Amino acid sequence: MPEFLWRKAQPSDLTKVEGLLTAAHLPLEGVRDHLAHFWLVFDGQTLIACAGIEPYGEVGLLRSVAVDQSHRGEGLGQALVNRVLQESAAGGMKQVALLTTTAAEYFPRWGFQVVGREDLPDSLHQSAEFQGACPDSAVALLLELA
Ligand SMILES: CC(C)(COP(=O)(O)OP(=O)(O)OC[C@H]1O[C@@H](n2cnc3c(N)ncnc32)[C@H](O)[C@@H]1OP(=O)(O)O)[C@@H](O)C(=O)NCCC(=O)NCCS
Repeated sequence: MPEFLWRKAQPSDLTKVEGLLTAAHLPLEGVRDHLAHFWLVFDGQTLIACAGIEPYGEVGLLRSVAVDQSHRGEGLGQALVNRVLQESAAGGMKQVALLTTTAAEYFPRWGFQVVGREDLPDSLHQSAEFQGACPDSAVALLLELA
């Protein structure tokens, strides 16, 4: 993989993150509130990939996993999810959930399993994704961290 710059997001990155998520047709609700928990990948000044987690105690909501069209299939999404999950486990998180309408078949490679939305931990219900940003048709997945 080329030498891209990896770093955590700063408040001034919001516009670029929103641009990448909009291009990937992913929701923006809650991004500003949780931006500090986003990992970003830059090619020069250009944001080419991101992934974030909303922490709710021992449970996290993985969200906003997006790779620019021009860099898909290069392993960036997988590397980003690895990074976020490793950091979550190191921080004491026990479970990670996600809601997706577009990539339910992407996440089982980490051990995510499809569950009923009602089976997700209650603490996640405060997330904007649960409060309407993600449609009812979204698939819920849950991963038990080792
Ligand atoms: C899903 C996404 C993040 C994958 O990123 P990526 O860097 O292109 O993926 P990687 O290079 O890490 O992995 C490629 C593999 O994932 C698979 N894959 C890519 N997108 C997929 C999808 N939407 N559903 C299922 N599998 C997918 C590819 O077929 C490939 O499979 P292989 O390893 O068997 O060859 C990217 O396609 C994207 O930004 N999609 C739009 C936003 C989105 O749907 N995000 C997920 C919900 S938060």
